[in-house]
Amino acid sequence: MMNYQDITARRLSGLVGAEIGGVNLAPGITQRTVDEIRDALLAYNVVFLRGQELTLDQFLAFARQLGEPSEYPLLPGLPGYPMITPVVKRENETVNFGGVWHSDTTYLPEPPMATLLLARTVPPVGGDTLFANMYAAYDALSDGMKDLLGGLVGISSSRKADAMRTREDRVSEAGRPNSDTELIGEHPVVRTHPETGRKALYLNIAHTVRFVGMTEEESTPILRYLYEHSVRPEFTCRFSWEVGSLAIWDNRCTMHNPVNDYHGYLREMHRITLRGDAPR
Ligand code: SIN
Repeated sequence: MMNYQDITARRLSGLVGAEIGGVNLAPGITQRTVDEIRDALLAYNVVFLRGQELTLDQFLAFARQLGEPSEYPLLPGLPGYPMITPVVKRENETVNFGGVWHSDTTYLPEPPMATLLLARTVPPVGGDTLFANMYAAYDALSDGMKDLLGGLVGISSSRKADAMRTREDRVSEAGRPNSDTELIGEHPVVRTHPETGRKALYLNIAHTVRFVGMTEEESTPILRYLYEHSVRPEFTCRFSWEVGSLAIWDNRCTMHNPVNDYHGYLREMHRITLRGDAPR
């Protein structure tokens, strides 16, 4: 456990996630509290704060204390708030947005460093989100596999079928004019976190298509093994949302997967991604 002055941190599982206490974001927080939340994010990879029923301006102001908000390329933000993307599944829908293991928008040249997700409406039960620690997934590989992956670059596409399906309802309702254009990112499949210096696996079933210099047929068996390996139960945690729960995850070393087990109920979240750098 770390020693903090302003916040408390309680681990959610052995390897990833902590619930942060002692913070009320609405009136604004000091730089020291921001620094402690950032430290906790680096230490636990995803952090959760409950009871934060923020206005849109308060949410944006907090995000700006942590980093630089960026726009989601495929859907517009809320009216007047282009940096805040609604993540919604309605009562009559059966598919949930982003409902597959992924790290956010790895098809961009500079994917976001972190994402903030604030719960506005939640189902009476269900709709939890799973998180996986990609440092732990990397550390647990054999030296032989680490050597092999160390030289590989992964190609991510915004048009992989499983991920596209999860955003069809939203894109048909309000997609950006260019949301059909394929976005492609090429990134090392083992990235070194720019702040902690630790190595993390950086590939995901939602967006990664193949390795550079290899066909899809050649890449798929290795990728399939790595997708399964990365989400071994001991690398994960699970968070149950309440209205006002806020999650902040580090996209450079985690994946997430929202569970789709609440048909018939509305789940509505607000999301802000923070600008990141090119993975190395
Ligand atoms: C997302 O992938 O941004 C959505 C996560 C969630 O709804 O829990």
